[in-house]
Amino acid sequence: MEAALLGQRPPMGWNSWNTFGTHINEQLIFEIADRMVEDGYLEAGYEYLVIDDCWAEKVRDENDRLVPDHIKFPHGMKAVADYVHSKGLKFGMYSCAGTLTCAGYPASFDHEFVDAQTFADWGVDFLKYDFCYFPRTADCKTHYRRMAIALKATGRPILLSACNWGVEEPWEWMRGAGAQMYRSTGDINESFRSIMDIADSQEANLGYNGAYSWNDMDMLVVGMYGKGNVAFTGGCTDAEYRTHFALWCLFGVPLMIGADLRGLNEISRELLLNRELIRIDQDPEGRAPYRLWDEKDGRRSYFRHLADGSYVLAYFNPADSEAQVNANFEDAGLPYSAGYALELTDVFTGETITKAEYYNPVVPAHDCLVYRARLVKR
Ligand code: GAL
Repeated sequence: MEAALLGQRPPMGWNSWNTFGTHINEQLIFEIADRMVEDGYLEAGYEYLVIDDCWAEKVRDENDRLVPDHIKFPHGMKAVADYVHSKGLKFGMYSCAGTLTCAGYPASFDHEFVDAQTFADWGVDFLKYDFCYFPRTADCKTHYRRMAIALKATGRPILLSACNWGVEEPWEWMRGAGAQMYRSTGDINESFRSIMDIADSQEANLGYNGAYSWNDMDMLVVGMYGKGNVAFTGGCTDAEYRTHFALWCLFGVPLMIGADLRGLNEISRELLLNRELIRIDQDPEGRAPYRLWDEKDGRRSYFRHLADGSYVLAYFNPADSEAQVNANFEDAGLPYSAGYALELTDVFTGETITKAEYYNPVVPAHDCLVYRARLVKR
């Protein structure tokens, strides 16, 4: 069998949950598919369009197969998949390792093989696989491994997006279980606190993150501005969205957009389409960044090695007022005595500056500065 090589780079796409929750239907999915192509998301790499929870009828059919909600998806899922594929996108769906999905719809516990075949028959390319209603007596690892095998048994390349929220340290074993990505935290909500908590909780696990099995820090909230299913606190600012997107890209993790692409403003669209940040996110080596400096209030700088021999130098200021963030290049591994400087290109403005030994910029509150860095002789 020819290898499908799914998940070579952190998967990118759009997912219905953050904004729409249960309010999904065929028309919405068609319109999102149109936007993904027409507004440049597909071209930038966002290729998976994923329908999350709440797509099914509450009972299986007489052959024990899952059935799409006949009001939300009147033409069935094959028709949805066909439309999504006709746009050049890939089609993702959702099920759960427990007896019910989180929203209470039928799920795949002990139905792994029949459900995997149903998804394959519909033309599904990506399966998000959740963890609600998982029996206490059952073994989590076995059931994720089982779904990975059930998907492979269909013969259709289907990316397995495991979602057990970090239970039993999935970074240690989901790669071995066959999943191409694994959710490592509880659900994101649209707040700066949630964004920073998720990033801080996963930084130490990024040594496991890499090609064919990526640490999924949950869908993006960029551009939601307090609207939708996971916006509980009035939303985020543009600076906070920059920090969120820059952290996900710096960490090299999956990028699944959660906002309504039909109403996204220009500043959020530009952020989500930022070529330099996406290139950093998609770097084939998937190396973890390391910290150069940090303070108790959360200010920190990072350095990351990229495959082409360049680097990332990134500054974050999660504190509530503008403040200096430091980076001494010696701490990156570059002593002044080596005779080099760093040529720094701002990923947001394209401006280039050259600095030797250190660079300690002032960063606005909740904002960041991210540079592509190149070694130059001094
Ligand atoms: C949660 C999951 C969310 C979303 C939701 C659907 O468990 O983490 O991302 O899929 O279920 O009910």
